[in-house]
Amino acid sequence: MFREKFKEGIISARDFTREDIEYLLKRGHEMMEVQSSDILSGKILATLFFEPSTRTRLSFESAMHRLGGKVIGFQSEDVSSVKKGESLADTIRTVQSYSDIIVIRHPMEGAAKMATRFADIPIINAGSGSKEHPTQALLDLLTIKEELGRLDGLNIGIMGDLKYGRTVHSLAMLLSNFEVNLYFISPKELQMRNRYKQYLIQQREVKFKEITNYRKILNVLDVLYMTRIQKERFVDMEEYERVKDFYVFKKKDLKQTQPHFKLMHPLPRITEIPPEIDKSEKAIYFKQTNYGLHMRKAILAELLS
Ligand code: NCD
Repeated sequence: MFREKFKEGIISARDFTREDIEYLLKRGHEMMEVQSSDILSGKILATLFFEPSTRTRLSFESAMHRLGGKVIGFQSEDVSSVKKGESLADTIRTVQSYSDIIVIRHPMEGAAKMATRFADIPIINAGSGSKEHPTQALLDLLTIKEELGRLDGLNIGIMGDLKYGRTVHSLAMLLSNFEVNLYFISPKELQMRNRYKQYLIQQREVKFKEITNYRKILNVLDVLYMTRIQKERFVDMEEYERVKDFYVFKKKDLKQTQPHFKLMHPLPRITEIPPEIDKSEKAIYFKQTNYGLHMRKAILAELLS
């Protein structure tokens, strides 16, 4: 059923119902036990990365290897024929005949969606400009579910660059399938875009508040999801300089939090979480990267086997 619904691939968090998410959370949990298997033997994953990546690309590649499949691809457009002027459409048409599934990251907002028009195999959106990053959000939900045991009833703060950060757009939309209280915490210039807020209000009836000072609500939060200020998306570098250090989580902030509180981050972090926080049991961003591997094994297995 899941495979049939997502036969074009995973493009947007909007396409997921609560049932779809819960199914993948279950499959992700099961994958935590699967160190190595041959369920995807004979299958080939193509990773097409037109923007930098560490975790997303390597966890998809590792997931494919762990399930017995093979991987081809490139990590930069500098080494593909795009450098010679080839269109994305022609690249996709070509790569689809060499592989069974494509994972793509591209600076253009509609890139993954567009790729589905030129491919008969599933496309996975691994980041489309500042728009979405749905598989990151799926692994974020797996992390919360595994660490806190539930999603309903939680107070979740999402903080940092809510304007340009693609992970937070997908995260807010996926979380809107659950009974959560969301706090969008950002400087005024980097608030969540209207199109996402409207979707949350009109289509999902989810409760959210927009605030600037996270310290005011730190004691009620179950989860704080921090993000990097997305330097590469700023048109005005002076504006970036003004906001780049707007939030720096302090060790003493941890004292304000509840015992079960969790601090998350999709990574990479720059200055917003100093390394001295890493030792705290409440800091789970490196565990989160590991849940990413399991979620991506689940996604590949669902779409391919
Ligand atoms: C994120 C991304 O690429 O959007 N990284 C990731 O996939 N974990 C977050 C970011 O770059 O800030």
